[in-house]
Amino acid sequence: MTSYTELGLVNTRELFKKAVSGGYALPAYNFNNMEQMQAIIQACVETKSPVILQVSSGARKYANQNLLKNMAKGAVEYAHELGCDIPIVLHLDHGDSFELCKDCIETGFSSVMIDGSKYPYDENVALTKKVCEFAHSRKDYVTVEGELGVLAGVEDDVSAEHSHYTQPAEVEDFVKKTGVDSLAISIGTSHGRAKFKPEQCTRTADGILIPPPLRFDILEEVEKRIPGFPIVLHGSSSVPIEYVHMIEKYGGKLTDSVGIPEEQLRRAAKSAVCKINIDSDGRLAMTALVRKVLTEHPEEFDPRKILGPARDELKKLYSHKNVNVLGSANRV
Ligand code: G3H
Ligand code: 13P
Ligand code: ZN
Repeated sequence: MTSYTELGLVNTRELFKKAVSGGYALPAYNFNNMEQMQAIIQACVETKSPVILQVSSGARKYANQNLLKNMAKGAVEYAHELGCDIPIVLHLDHGDSFELCKDCIETGFSSVMIDGSKYPYDENVALTKKVCEFAHSRKDYVTVEGELGVLAGVEDDVSAEHSHYTQPAEVEDFVKKTGVDSLAISIGTSHGRAKFKPEQCTRTADGILIPPPLRFDILEEVEKRIPGFPIVLHGSSSVPIEYVHMIEKYGGKLTDSVGIPEEQLRRAAKSAVCKINIDSDGRLAMTALVRKVLTEHPEEFDPRKILGPARDELKKLYSHKNVNVLGSANRV
């Protein structure tokens, strides 16, 4: 059994307090491999931003939980070596059972999400409460994120055909009954690179999809009912059109890609939204650069020459998000 403090990690409690009062959001970047982790830490050290390293159950299967845990420990040491001891959280993304959350907590995660949003309300409450009781009884207090409302989109185990917005009338009761430390809500974001159907969008003259706006009215209602309580947004990639174009230029096919515009995320980050989840944008940046290198240098077969440029691009992307979207830069 490992406690996250032994790994040099922190939970989200103090970080969320500061983010809510400071009007910014913490980046929650998913990672599965070394290059992603290096890019995240380089960007967050350079911009002096705290960071949440997120691991999905798919990432755990892909990379091995022991390796991921030790990569998070390595991330703490790497940040130190790069010259800034930024606070680092290791978070389970979309935990779907008590057993998975318990296992992560016992192997050194400092924060877990229990995603009971697909269950009826009372079952979601009971499951979330059970995870909170276990996580909070740990000597080092592991923080827990719950979810109310369902996001549309498909990501491995996380899938739903339609979104169901969070009902503000439920949030106060949910938070009180479960004891969660933060709450993910559904206000129109969704997982993946095609967040809306074309018929939900308008198009610019050159065919680029413009998505419908997020439901800030629901967010405001939620904030009224649980003032200052940490809110989380999933499915918050912006799906930069430059990466989509680059991927398509070099042979990929990503029809009808559309994300959440950055200015809407910036607006959300200024509110009680204090954690913004981003995975797909990293996937797009990496794929774009890998495709470019392989197409332009067909003779190349050294993985470092293929993944190195992708890692550099990822770092640029994360720095940009911290500085210009989330407002998390210079908060260490
Ligand atoms: O919300 C889910 C994340 O994007 C993780 O995706 O389950 O494919 O690792 P994944
Ligand atoms: P995106 O697919 O928009 O990057 O969302 C990621 C996410 O919510 C991870 O939990
Ligand atoms: Zn998510």
